Amino acid sequence: MSDIIKIKEEYLNKLQEISELKDINQIKSELFGKNGKISNEFKKMGSLPSEDRKKVSLDLNATKNELQNLIEKKIKDIEINEINLKLKNEKVDVTLPERTFSRGKIHPVSQVIDEISSIFSEIGFNVEEGPDVENEYNNFTALNTPENHPARDMHDTFYLDKNKKFLLRTHTSPVQVRTMLQGKPPFKIIAPGRTYRSDSDQTHAPMFHQVEGLHIDKNINMGHLKGCLNYFIKEFFEVEKIKMRFRPSHFPFTEPSAEVDIGYELKNGKIIIGEGDKWLEILGCGMVHPNVLKNVKVDPTKYQGYAFGIGIDRLAMLKYGINDLRAFFETDYRWLSHFGFDPLDVPSSYRGLSR
Ligand code: DAH
Repeated sequence: MSDIIKIKEEYLNKLQEISELKDINQIKSELFGKNGKISNEFKKMGSLPSEDRKKVSLDLNATKNELQNLIEKKIKDIEINEINLKLKNEKVDVTLPERTFSRGKIHPVSQVIDEISSIFSEIGFNVEEGPDVENEYNNFTALNTPENHPARDMHDTFYLDKNKKFLLRTHTSPVQVRTMLQGKPPFKIIAPGRTYRSDSDQTHAPMFHQVEGLHIDKNINMGHLKGCLNYFIKEFFEVEKIKMRFRPSHFPFTEPSAEVDIGYELKNGKIIIGEGDKWLEILGCGMVHPNVLKNVKVDPTKYQGYAFGIGIDRLAMLKYGINDLRAFFETDYRWLSHFGFDPLDVPSSYRGLSR
């Protein structure tokens, strides 16, 4: 049997068995590649006696065409098979019922933290964060609250070790200390976050939320504090006018210190902010005590400023008519679907997203 016939028979058989494109490519290069079997037969023709050359050339070309045609056909068959297989497997059953679609809700506390951050960032405050596990120095000592100071007992602190060196922060004020130790004045920050005290009833939870504010610069005075809080409360409650009163108070880390009440009235069981003759305490504030500034290496003869601490949960309850603080932390999905916020429905006070 001549070489040409042998090649032809071998490859006709091989092609019968093939079902994948990659094997076809392999065969193509075995036959027609640079050193392919058919290519080599063509090369050999040069050394044949001239009387044989014509016949061999006819045979070789016929074989070459036959194999090439078969290869083309095989490629088409394989492609059609693949398409059919895909159609079979990817069939869409239009009679199936649709899948239910449920979207999560944003917790009112997260919503209010976003609203607060957005309002303060409009007037130049940066948002800072601190850890929930603090050391006693940042939480108390640096804030002018030395050991045995009565304010430490008032905080009902959760200590984490016998020596009372580590604790769950009782307020967000230690973020003031961290921020000032890490940078250089001026400082203009807010720090929202979780805080902890051993306390639990309808208006107190062992874990709750505060937002700290701090503004330190060369000529900051109580007028700036008043203006800033006035702006914030109006923006937050979305009212044109508010009634606000500063009541003298005491915090170790501020001098003078004040608590701020806002005026409200009850209409059909609803709290209306900015009207009426009732008062509601919403925050503590004051001018940062020179001792605090010294503790964080800021020169109190050059720099001064104000700080404030606001209870976030209380604000959320007031703004969104929620009357039991504990519901915030019970993770009841039915409650959340009622009081939670649609991630795509942006209230006007949440400026950060809508602009
Ligand atoms: N840290 C205080 C608290 O938890 C609140 C507070 C009052 C923060 C006055 C301040 C401030 O920054 O100046 O009761």
